[in-house]
Amino acid sequence: MTDQHQPRRIVVGVSGGIAAYKACHLVRDLKEAGDDVRVVPTPGALNFVGAATFEALSGHPVSTTVFDAVDEVQHVRIGQEADAVVIAPATADVIARLVAGRADDLLTATVLVATCPVIVVPAMHTEMWRNAATQANVATLRERGVIVLEPAHGRLTGKDTGAGRLPEPDQIAELVRAVLDGANLTPDWQGRKVLITAGGTQENLDPVRFLGNRSSGRQGFALAEIAAHRGAKVRIVAGDTDQLPTPSGAVIEKVGSAREMAAAVEKHAAEADVIIMAAAVADFRPVSEAGAKMKKGSDDDSLTTVRLVENPDILASTVRCRREGAVPAATTIVGFAAETGDGTHSALDFAKAKLERKGCDLLMCNEVGEGRVFGQSRNRGWLLTADGRVSEVADGSKHAVAARILEAVDELRN
Ligand code: CTP
Repeated sequence: MTDQHQPRRIVVGVSGGIAAYKACHLVRDLKEAGDDVRVVPTPGALNFVGAATFEALSGHPVSTTVFDAVDEVQHVRIGQEADAVVIAPATADVIARLVAGRADDLLTATVLVATCPVIVVPAMHTEMWRNAATQANVATLRERGVIVLEPAHGRLTGKDTGAGRLPEPDQIAELVRAVLDGANLTPDWQGRKVLITAGGTQENLDPVRFLGNRSSGRQGFALAEIAAHRGAKVRIVAGDTDQLPTPSGAVIEKVGSAREMAAAVEKHAAEADVIIMAAAVADFRPVSEAGAKMKKGSDDDSLTTVRLVENPDILASTVRCRREGAVPAATTIVGFAAETGDGTHSALDFAKAKLERKGCDLLMCNEVGEGRVFGQSRNRGWLLTADGRVSEVADGSKHAVAARILEAVDELRN
C-alpha cells in the first residue's frame, strides 16, 4: 500500500553538529514519500555537510543567509509557505537562539516567520543536553507550542555513550509525517507511566528452532515513540522486533517467549497508568523444548509432530489482576485484535467478541492477511470501547494510528 497524499512543503533546518550527516537521510526519506523538501542549514552545518549535497538531495538551492534572493523576500517566504519545519540536528546553540527569537541567519528567520508546526530534534553531548540552560530553553520552546523531541540514548561523537544522540532519520521522518497528519505531540502525558508490549514472541523447539509469527513490532514501537514524545515514562516489553531502533525516551526489556513476556508485564503492570498490548503473543508453545538440536532421522517423531500447550493470555490476566486489585482500578488497558473475516463474520464482528472476552477498555482491530499490516508501515481498522462505541481509524502510518489510539485513551480517561 502506498501513501498517496498531496505533497507537503517541509523545511529541514540543519544546524552545526556532527549528526548533520544524518539530515541527508532525513531529506531523502521525506522526499521519497512524495513531499517537497527544502533544506535550510546554518553556516555551521556547512562545516559538516556541503551545500551541494543538500541541493542535490532536495532539488532546491540552499542558502544560509537572509541576504540571498532578497528580491524574492526569501527570509520570509520559506517560513510562510512551509507546512512543517523540522530542525535536525538542533544544537544547544540553535535552541538558545530560537528561544531568544533571533533572526540572524536564514534558519532562525524562517522559524520566526513560520506558523506551521515546528519540530526540534536535539542532538548534543549529554552534559550539554542536561545543562540547566538547555533544559530551561527546551521547556520555554515547549510552552510556546514548539515540538521538541526527546534525544535518543546511545553512542555520541566520541567514545562516550549517553542521552543526546539524534534519533534515526526514519524515526524522525515518521514523526514529522504523523504531525502533518494531525498527531498531537504536545508533552501532556508528563508524569504518566505507560507499559507497552510489542513484537512477536518466539516459542523454542530446540536451541536453533522456534515457532514465531510475522509481527514486526512497528505498531508497538510507534505507540512508544508517540507516548514518550508526549512526555510519558514508557517501558516496552519487546519480543522479536525486526531490529527496529529503540524509541527515544523509552526503556526496553527484551523477552523471548510468551511466558517471559507475561512475567515482565506482571512485574511492571501495577505501576502503569496505561497498558497497551500490541504484541503478537503466540497462543501455543511446544510442550517441551529439546535441550540439544533435534536431528533428522532420529527414531522419535519430535521433528515431524510438534505437540503444543496453550500459553497464558497476558491481556486477559492483566484485566483479571485489575479486577482483583493487583493492578490499580484507574489503569487503562488497551488490546489489539489482528483479525480476518470468514464467510459468516467480519473482522469487526470477531473484534467485538474479543473485546468482551478479554475485558479491556479499548481494542484496536486491524484486518490482517494478504500482506496487510504485519511488517508494513501503514495500518487502519477500528477502535472499539468497552461501552460499545466503534470508530473507524483511517488508513495512515503506524505513527498516525498510534497517535489516534493515544487520543482514544485520553477520551476514556477524561
Ligand atoms: N494477547 C495476550 N496473550 C496471548 C494472546 C494474545 O496478551 N496469549 C493479547 C495481544 O497482545 C492482543 C490481544 O491479546 O492485544 C489479542 O490478540 P490476538 O492474537 O488477536 O487474539 P487471541 O487471544 O490470540 O485470539 P484468537 O487467536 O482466537 O483470535
